[in-house]
Amino acid sequence: MCGIVGYIGLPEKTSQHSALDVLLEGLRRLEYRGYDSAGVATVAAGTVSTRKKSGKLANLLAEIDAAPMEAASVGIGHTRWATHGAPTDQNAHPHLADGGKLAVIHNGIIENFAQLKAKLVAAGEEFSSQTDTEVAAKLIGQYFTGSAAGDLTEAMRLASSELEGAFTLLAVHADQPDRVVASRRNSPLVVGLGEGENFLGSDVSGFIDFTREAVELEQDQVVTITTEDVAIINFDGTEAEGKRFSVNWDAAAAEKGGFGTFMEKEIHDQPKAVEDTLLGRTDASGRLVLDELRIDPEELKSISKIIVLACGTSAYAGMVAKYAIEHWVRVPVEVELSHEFRYRDPIIDDSTLIVSLSQSGETMDTLMAVRYAKEQGARTLAICNTNGSTIPRESDAVLYTHAGPEIAVASTKAFLAQITASYLLGLYMAQLRGKLFQGEIEDILADLHKIPGKIQEVLDGGDQIRELAREMAQEPSVLFLGRHVGYPVAMEGALKLKEIAYIHAEGFAAGELKHGPIALIDQGQPVFVVVPSPHGRDSLHAKVVSNIQEVRARGARTITVAEAGDADVVDYSETVFYVPETQPLLMPLLTTVPLQIFACALAAEKGYDVDQPRNLAKSVTVE
Ligand code: M6R
Repeated sequence: MCGIVGYIGLPEKTSQHSALDVLLEGLRRLEYRGYDSAGVATVAAGTVSTRKKSGKLANLLAEIDAAPMEAASVGIGHTRWATHGAPTDQNAHPHLADGGKLAVIHNGIIENFAQLKAKLVAAGEEFSSQTDTEVAAKLIGQYFTGSAAGDLTEAMRLASSELEGAFTLLAVHADQPDRVVASRRNSPLVVGLGEGENFLGSDVSGFIDFTREAVELEQDQVVTITTEDVAIINFDGTEAEGKRFSVNWDAAAAEKGGFGTFMEKEIHDQPKAVEDTLLGRTDASGRLVLDELRIDPEELKSISKIIVLACGTSAYAGMVAKYAIEHWVRVPVEVELSHEFRYRDPIIDDSTLIVSLSQSGETMDTLMAVRYAKEQGARTLAICNTNGSTIPRESDAVLYTHAGPEIAVASTKAFLAQITASYLLGLYMAQLRGKLFQGEIEDILADLHKIPGKIQEVLDGGDQIRELAREMAQEPSVLFLGRHVGYPVAMEGALKLKEIAYIHAEGFAAGELKHGPIALIDQGQPVFVVVPSPHGRDSLHAKVVSNIQEVRARGARTITVAEAGDADVVDYSETVFYVPETQPLLMPLLTTVPLQIFACALAAEKGYDVDQPRNLAKSVTVE
């Protein structure tokens, strides 16, 4: 939530790109993190200038066009997802303090802002917004003019130590125009390294156009960037060093590549996302080697229970993982929404493996749940798509998905990559614990390697799905049914439709139908059914075919997603989308795709902003 970017360059660099260009480019790339309002502050000729505007970044650009800013080589920029205070011009960041000489932007929630505000008001500070950010700005300002004596780094450190909650703060001051100072606790921040210039961003896409060299920061740190230096200190004042890393994708990967929306592009990226996630995971003899795991294989052998923690789409990937891992490894797997987990006194010990699934690696609910599990003695493994993000950094082990940057708020390729990585984890554990024969593992891996080509086949048949989406654009409600691994796919199909097409949609376990949801079926009610492979357990397929008949008998319009050659569904479906054949447990990698295409096309037909749906943000960094 909220995108943050900071820049400092040599003044002569402004001939190549000015601070404003860098900030606006960064905000363009970070807008997926929040788009309620946007703003920038630059420092030039001893003055801080700001422009800020509610609504999307385009509104800020128009504002800057109308009132151009002076050329500058240092500045900060923000794109907001509102928490405290409505998304108005006034509440947009930056917020000013110290008589307009200090500008501050913020991501997160400052929990003790009310107490601090009362103290600051008593000290004579006046506020012009309802935000918690302005409280932080005034506090930094007080230190800058008081005990920190004109030292922005020290003022930031002292103020940050007083704040509670989650925050990334960036500040510039007219009296110290040679630096941008930032601090972080429980909120994302990375540094980008340039030559004669340095960058700050909520994630690397904030500066990917300018550098692929980056530095991770730890918890509770302050970083000061100048044109020549990146200096990190802890909140207690001790010096620290960040961990350098190189970004393994380039700016082009975060462009639409000829598609109308990022979501469409990312749906079409899926063959590669799965292929890249599988890449380099086996040795010459075909055995799985998960090098990055960093957990002793002996420990993985002694795990007695796995708990998967995740939110939203990632949690549905976790449910698919449960079916596969329990089947292959014979270890119990629980899947829990991260935000529910730590409030129910879960039973965890050092033989519990926590597997967190997160595209962003910054989801606060998941981060907090992982921290809680660690405190209870569990081993923690992150399956994550974002290098340098907090959850993998704080986990004992990481298995990166290689889906590339996912920009659309609705997750697509990250979902398939998470499922793929979960399969790898399951197969690896089965190999370690001798639960599958090596030949069985190789067969499953061989089938996994065929999946990218099969996803491409589904994509190639996308027109049939898009046509149906156009025809159904005015439907007020759509239901999704599935069993076994088709159940999380049904819920994912419903979530996609809710979040981008604003249509009431529900995903049910098909077996639940007769326990209540069937009462929703009325004449013409559209019902998508994710049909299990007829090559899996016979009874499962037959039961779902019966479910289709049951809803159809009550007037439903049935749309089925079935395996190629499944003739049993034809008589009971108004429309069938066939996907290529694969092992039953691997089916979600194929059956999800038509549902994504459907939601994307339907939202576009309704004229909605597919990539930036209302009220949402890509990465949920507040609880
Ligand atoms: O970054 P994460 O995978 O941790 O995010 C989890 C959810 O917020 C995310 O999957 C969300 O549900 C998406 N908008 C779904 O499309």
